[in-house]
Amino acid sequence: MAQRYYITTPIYYVNDVPHIGHAYTTLACDVMARFKRLDGYDVKFLTGTDEHGQKVEKAAETEGIAPQDFTNRVSQNFRDLLPAMNFSADDFIRTTEDRHVRSCQAIWEKLRENGHIYLDKYAGWYSVRDEAFYAESELVGGKAPTGAPVEWVEEPSYFFDLSKWQEPLLAFYEANPGFIEPQTRRNEVLSFVKGGLKDLSVSRTSFKWGVPVPGDDDHIMYVWLDALTNYITAVGYPDTDSQEFEERWPADLHMVGKDILRFHAVYWPAFLMGAGIAPPKRVYAHGWWTNEGQKISKSLGNAIDPLQLIDQFGLDAVRYFLLREVPFGNDGDFSQAAMVSRKNSDLANDLGNLSQRVLSMIAKNCGGLVPSPGDFSDADQVILGRADALLAKTRAHFDAQAFHKALDEIWEVVSLANRYVDDQAPWALRKTDPPRMETVLYVLAEVIRHLATLVQPVVPDSAARMLDQLAVAPEARDFTHLTAEHRLTPGSALPKPTPIFPRHVEEHVEEEGQST
Ligand code: MSP
Repeated sequence: MAQRYYITTPIYYVNDVPHIGHAYTTLACDVMARFKRLDGYDVKFLTGTDEHGQKVEKAAETEGIAPQDFTNRVSQNFRDLLPAMNFSADDFIRTTEDRHVRSCQAIWEKLRENGHIYLDKYAGWYSVRDEAFYAESELVGGKAPTGAPVEWVEEPSYFFDLSKWQEPLLAFYEANPGFIEPQTRRNEVLSFVKGGLKDLSVSRTSFKWGVPVPGDDDHIMYVWLDALTNYITAVGYPDTDSQEFEERWPADLHMVGKDILRFHAVYWPAFLMGAGIAPPKRVYAHGWWTNEGQKISKSLGNAIDPLQLIDQFGLDAVRYFLLREVPFGNDGDFSQAAMVSRKNSDLANDLGNLSQRVLSMIAKNCGGLVPSPGDFSDADQVILGRADALLAKTRAHFDAQAFHKALDEIWEVVSLANRYVDDQAPWALRKTDPPRMETVLYVLAEVIRHLATLVQPVVPDSAARMLDQLAVAPEARDFTHLTAEHRLTPGSALPKPTPIFPRHVEEHVEEEGQST
């Protein structure tokens, strides 16, 4: 029976069109999901949209349309991003769906039954942009610590007894040291919780766009309690006896941006424990992208549109860049220059050139068939050994969400292979020692098979084309085939090779070229 892997993105607010930050979170989940599928896991990859709350209600109001019509439209933009970015999500949840409303009301009832919810009055600061409550002491210059404006709210409210969860949470973090990653973020959460927790307002009465509190229609549920619950809705909650819930929950990984870690690493496990449900296994908080050194913001109008980037650079180059350029977990800066340089050096020059030169030599000199090797020399054994060892190393990095390290490791073998081509000089062997030339080209083709198989999660289309060119059957592309027993079969026919990773050509350079 295959092991299961359940991974989630945050659900996206529908007050905005998708930008590079959203695409980044989902991309990280997509490569993780693809890696696990190729590694034999039965994966569920969930994404979706967060459609309730004051922020969305206000955005709809500004446009003068009903919130449901508004969310239908904007949610579709996020759904359209999936095929555009080649995201392999298995489910797309919307918090306005019946399955979710039912699930929210059920967790609420459970929390109330278990004595964790009580009615009182909230008086304090609220930021609509963050959909978060702030204590007076947290404000910085009259604003939320995130810089978002706050407003004074005074209304009847249900509270969740978060203050009682300090000790259980600390014990949980202690028992599960990998629950929050990276470790620096874990330390921040630990010190926040150690500083003491206040009961949390979990309902609002001053607007209507949300899930009604069961038994008290004047209140709607706090949007974060509603939103976080999506992760269990999608695996069948409140039906906790269902096969799906039993098989999938707790989730293996909630991927989130650093800005929403507290909701996932503090509130969410407390809600779950309060409802008698196991917390997720892991929450990973990634960093934020800036654009040419500037914070990305609606007011600056400098959001990067992923569709435009794809148009300009090609999908796989964009996917590769986002995961390779910045150590995962750190903040990073997007710049055109860096994008061009990654595309040209890592993809076109290193991997693309390797596969193109080897495959065209095979096409020309081996009759378009997988070459027939003789005995392997020490140099051959070394490079084949490096290729065979890559899976284990890559897997360890993926399991730590160190995507940049996995790519680094793979590209080290790309460089080795390029050096091996130069050292072995198969073009010279063609005249002096044709059988040796066949061996060298065979070794290279086999190394390229490993590389192409391993880069599938990150550059799925290009990797598929590389594997097509090596005539690797679709059912032979998973990671069980990355062993010496599954080497390429000498003599099998190969299609005519075509370049896979084009160099980036600046548009204005082309124009200049044309005019002269
Ligand atoms: N709706 C909440 C999440 C609820 S999950 C139960 C929310 N939505 S969001 O649309 O504002 O943000 C979703 C994700 O996009 C977050 O993980 C956030 O970190 C990420 N990003 C938004 N801008 C970003 C960058 N500039 N860079 C990287 N990621 C960023 O929060």
